Amino acid sequence: MGRVHVLDHPLIQHKLTLIRDKNTGTKEFRELLEEVAMLMAYEITRDLPLEETVVETPLGPARSRVLSGRKLGVVPILRAGLGMVEGVLKLIPAARVGHIGLYRDPDTLQPVEYYCKLPTDVTERELIVIDPMLATGGSASAAIRFIKEKGARHIKLMCLIAAPEGVQRVQSDHPEVDLYTAAVDERLNDHGYIVPGLGDAGDRLYGTK
Ligand code: PRP
Ligand code: URA
Repeated sequence: MGRVHVLDHPLIQHKLTLIRDKNTGTKEFRELLEEVAMLMAYEITRDLPLEETVVETPLGPARSRVLSGRKLGVVPILRAGLGMVEGVLKLIPAARVGHIGLYRDPDTLQPVEYYCKLPTDVTERELIVIDPMLATGGSASAAIRFIKEKGARHIKLMCLIAAPEGVQRVQSDHPEVDLYTAAVDERLNDHGYIVPGLGDAGDRLYGTK
């Protein structure tokens, strides 16, 4: 079963509170989402393997360590996932970026795919799928299924706020995927919104609606 990591770093929790606040405007929301994504990326990359190397300092050779193993990729789910990409790339600038376009049909709550472009060497990369909201889990589960169909085998899911229903859905559909989130909230409401959540992430990020 994939593990659920609730990232309780004080800076992540503080910024999450500001992001949730209904009085936080679009500009600040966007800045905070990028900052929190950077902090979350720091936690998510904790288990990356290292290998020994020798580097020449001005005073002579030093045994030191560098990242080894698989290269990384970041796959935001459009639109709201875009708000977290730059923060992640600040820490792992060499990561390739794929995009999956999905929107949730407001009546059926089912994800509808409209775009998918992934790095060609997706089979060799460890991929981090990002989306601030994991509500029913339909969008994240579909995105993970698409990238598995393209050959990806090593996938993590990063979101900002999850509902218990979404966590359960991802664990049941993709039991090998670890989930990283800043909070698991109480529940979904009748419209599939996370309560208390933060409202509509895409609209708050881009000032739509
Ligand atoms: C939101 C959010 C997730 C999805 C979560 O996107 O960013 O992608 O809903 O809901 P789910 O877990 O029930 O699938 P939305 O469909 O509103 O599209 P947007 O990002 O373009 O605003
Ligand atoms: N999508 C959002 O943006 N917010 C929610 O609470 C649920 C889905």
